[in-house]
Amino acid sequence: MSDKKQQVSRRQFLNYSLTGVGGFMAASVLAPMIRFAVDPVLQASTDGDMQPVVDVSEITEEPQRFDWTFEQVDGWYTSNATHSAWVYKDENGDIVALSPTCKHLGCAVNWAGNPDYPDQFFCPCHDGRYYKNGLNVPNTPPSAALDLYEFEVREGTLYLGSPVENPVEKGGA
Ligand code: FES
Repeated sequence: MSDKKQQVSRRQFLNYSLTGVGGFMAASVLAPMIRFAVDPVLQASTDGDMQPVVDVSEITEEPQRFDWTFEQVDGWYTSNATHSAWVYKDENGDIVALSPTCKHLGCAVNWAGNPDYPDQFFCPCHDGRYYKNGLNVPNTPPSAALDLYEFEVREGTLYLGSPVENPVEKGGA
């Protein structure tokens, strides 16, 4: 071991001091900016939340379109979003809630929108058609079934969540 004292030159002292002070000042300026940039991403999204849509007693075996509006937060931007679903009860009394968004190019489909096919969903943009369960009719433009909404029934009210892929299999009508 050496007893030699480590000497810090004036130049080194100034370098250390300026680096420390500069780093502290840069961190003071950048930290709020980083927080501002990242904060909305860290906020819990309301997108996946279930929204109340309709009293279950209003749901029939005939598909009806129901609209609902909710506050949507997208990053720093908050807006009111309106979504729609075609809702009916199948032959077993089970609720089916279909997205109205055509799987071809995204137009809105209508139940019995074409008088030639009164038991199907019809997309007016390119004559796309879907069976009642959402399955796309072969040889029409859509190549996939209409999405299904996740749902819950709470105290007699139907709540809808996000649309998910429809597991309906070919051949179902
Ligand atoms: S957008 Fe629906 S058929 Fe083309």
